[in-house]
Amino acid sequence: MEVTTPWSRAEIYFHGAHVTQFQKHGEPPLLFLSQCSRFEAGAPIRGGIPIIFPWFGKPADKAGQHGFARVREWELKEVVSPADGSVILRLSLPQQPELPGCVVEYVVGVSNVLSAELIVTNKSDQQLKFENCLHTYLTIGDISAVSVTGLKGVDYLDSLEGRQRKTESDDGVGFTGEVDRIYINTPQAVEIRDESLRRVINVEKEHSLSTVVWNPWIAKAKAMSDYGDDEYQRMVCVESGNVAVNEVTLPPGETSRLKVKLSSATG
Ligand code: BG6
Repeated sequence: MEVTTPWSRAEIYFHGAHVTQFQKHGEPPLLFLSQCSRFEAGAPIRGGIPIIFPWFGKPADKAGQHGFARVREWELKEVVSPADGSVILRLSLPQQPELPGCVVEYVVGVSNVLSAELIVTNKSDQQLKFENCLHTYLTIGDISAVSVTGLKGVDYLDSLEGRQRKTESDDGVGFTGEVDRIYINTPQAVEIRDESLRRVINVEKEHSLSTVVWNPWIAKAKAMSDYGDDEYQRMVCVESGNVAVNEVTLPPGETSRLKVKLSSATG
């Protein structure tokens, strides 16, 4: 489904409730979408914003990487066009046998910014434990001229070294090889400074304690069948959620809201 506003356009697939594009008029696309993405039933779309839920990564006791929300069919419940010109979509994930009593909704707001909110309500009589993550793929001009700021002093789990715990010492995280890190206990916003496109992307978040930073670099890019060999140069994933030690425990009757707002400024 395509959405156009006075400031921007966006595309959303009901497969995975996947926002595949957001582009402000006169700016390069904000979200990155792979030319090799398969758009197939049962497979995630490569790019945009996959919804990672109810688990992140590939725990030994779970089938498949990053949960099932990104590969299931969602339903569009409502489209609202307030007088300010924005468009708000509300989608819901039909009841899943794996999560009885769990109600999952997703609200996407399109205006001069893109907002996305994953809302999980526990209507069962048992505690619900899950991980969530909005896995935003961002378009950048050149990975070697990008830095991610806002993470200095934050502890991270290095997924390239068995989730070994380390502390970020740099003002800006740069990229000269594969990076795959889960920054933990970090509720603050981050910025992606892109010298090549002369753009700064701001990732603001609510109810998120983890920020995942990922770029596959050369070898992993080649190994992924739904991703171009050179595409690692033009994208970075800066993902907001609650994963690993920040897993969510939701008591019966309660609601969890993970919200992300993406904005950008050029010049
Ligand atoms: C990131 C993980 O969030 O997603 C990486 O940190 C993973 O380890 C990447 O490779 C892509 O995962 P997938 O399942 O979409 O290929």
